[in-house]
Amino acid sequence: MEKHFAVIGNPIEHSFSPAMHNAGYKHLGIDAIYHRFQVYPNSLAEAVYGLCALGFAGWNVTLPHKETIIPYLDTLTPQARRAGAVNTVKILDGKKIGHNTDGDGFICSIEGELKEFRDKKAVLLGAGGASKGIALALAEKGMHVHILNRTLQKAEELVQTIHQKGGTGSFGEFRPGDWLEDVDLLVQTTPLGLKGEPFPLRLNGVAKKTLAVDIIVNVQETAFLREAKKQGCRVLDGTGMLLYQGALAWEFWLGGKAPLEAMRKGLQDQML
Ligand code: ATR
Repeated sequence: MEKHFAVIGNPIEHSFSPAMHNAGYKHLGIDAIYHRFQVYPNSLAEAVYGLCALGFAGWNVTLPHKETIIPYLDTLTPQARRAGAVNTVKILDGKKIGHNTDGDGFICSIEGELKEFRDKKAVLLGAGGASKGIALALAEKGMHVHILNRTLQKAEELVQTIHQKGGTGSFGEFRPGDWLEDVDLLVQTTPLGLKGEPFPLRLNGVAKKTLAVDIIVNVQETAFLREAKKQGCRVLDGTGMLLYQGALAWEFWLGGKAPLEAMRKGLQDQML
């Protein structure tokens, strides 16, 4: 019987996930459809029970539901527990399992560029939900994670969580400083650049060995990446993270290896 998957969130109309997953199903001849549904916060419970009642095999969860969905689920995987957030749900024997592929998807997306993680230094700009998932995954790989955020208290809380989970981290204000000199990985996780706006921090003095990643997925290069390129850094945009979090969700749902190249093509076609 045909399987059904979906992504739920708000806003959702610009999600690339349906194009990416449906291209993968088509490529492998899998009898499945990936939908997208706009779900407002006050309808989340009905949406979860509705998806179950309709026989959905699983779904992705995006903003603003990644944390608020947790009380409606039966169990969490270690990755979801680590992040304190869920981006993937699977129905298994009638039970709703919450999982998170954002952190590991991010790691997969940079592995080709950053060979060593242990004892290297990552600087993350921003301390929101996206930053948290990435920070905890990097800390688990043995990186020192330095968080810079406009609201210092949020950076401090995230570093406390990193320490509680056995990692090492530090924090500072969202402005240029001596952190620029010795950084292996610099990750931009704020929404600055989503709408083509300028990036407020100058990166003068950033080490040339730095891999700079902006998790924003945009047809247009973000001002952050332009600035990092100008300083001689290697750069990656958010397409890789989106692709790999999707591929890991696919593998969690369906087993086997996700058809990465077909999914990448589906994603790129949608971006045109
Ligand atoms: P997400 O869950 O997608 O990461 P979020 O929780 O809204 O989104 O987090 C957005 C992050 O971007 C926060 O760290 C936010 O900083 P504050 O904690 O000070 O709010 C940061 N951010 C958003 N707009 C910003 C701006 N104009 N300048 C600097 N940082 C900004």
